[in-house]
Amino acid sequence: INLLLLCGGGGDEHAISLLSANYFETSLAKLAHINVLRVELDAEGHYHTKSGEPCELTNRREIRFEDERLSPWPVDYVIPCIHGYPGETGDIQSYFELINLPYFGCDAEGSRNCFNKITAKMWFSALGIPNTPYLFLNQLDEQAIAQTTDALEKWGSVFVKAASQGSSVGCYRVDDAAQIPAILEDAFRYSPYVVVEKTIEARELEVAVYQYRGETVATQPGEVICAGGTFYTYDEKYAADSKATTRVVAEVSAEIAQQIRAYAVKVFDGMKLRHLSRIDFFLTPEGEILLNEINTFPGLTPISMFPKMLANHGDDFSEYLNEAILTGLN
Ligand code: DAL
Ligand code: MG
Repeated sequence: INLLLLCGGGGDEHAISLLSANYFETSLAKLAHINVLRVELDAEGHYHTKSGEPCELTNRREIRFEDERLSPWPVDYVIPCIHGYPGETGDIQSYFELINLPYFGCDAEGSRNCFNKITAKMWFSALGIPNTPYLFLNQLDEQAIAQTTDALEKWGSVFVKAASQGSSVGCYRVDDAAQIPAILEDAFRYSPYVVVEKTIEARELEVAVYQYRGETVATQPGEVICAGGTFYTYDEKYAADSKATTRVVAEVSAEIAQQIRAYAVKVFDGMKLRHLSRIDFFLTPEGEILLNEINTFPGLTPISMFPKMLANHGDDFSEYLNEAILTGLN
């Protein structure tokens, strides 16, 4: 089996995608029947191999090298290990679907529905899963500023989020109305749609959800504890001196854990997601559970929760991957 491991991508999470790809490489190395070609997608949309050889994925499902002395490499299966654009936005999956190339992870539609924070919320509500109160904006004008100011007054503090971004990029906490115009301007730079959410002072619980052996598995919720006390920023996640810590199993009551897992499975199955996701919740001091977001291609870096939660659940990532690949082949 020739497996293309695509990594990198054009978004702000490029470097993280490379770290996640290392985890796939290590896991795939245990599967002797799978040949892996690692190809990186750069910010300009160009592909190159690990050794720097420029190449492209053609619509005949092969990797063609710029150096024509190298013979094309037929691809049987692809893992788009790309966080953010174009891996979690659904774009690259649409291309795989067009060229009929089987791939790992959520499909184009599921990815896109989760990636956009507005469509995601519409799905959550449609499925009856509680989520954060919000307001949505689709243009930057006086009215948007006025609506955001009203929301801030009503909720005390808000988060302004670019609707189509991951890893807390284009995401700002606002406590002071004077900041609103500049922050909205910034958020709109990242996305044509912006959500303004009520700030939820809550614990952040995350569940790894994946399909394995015929069922949708939701692990015990884990927890992210932010030293800053505000939110899990890009730097808090990945900076070398990050003060955020994680717990693979959160200390919550059995009832809370059960309810979170039930919501996680309901939304995963309800949105017809596939293979994997990490679903993030808030748990308020009053015991209210709110669905925050779904990461359709969660990080698999040394600090990431998904691999730890899967292992803690008693599953082996290589075996799980093997099953997904073997059942997905044309
Ligand atoms: N967006 C990052 C990679 C995550 O959710 O893990
Ligand atoms: Mg998150």
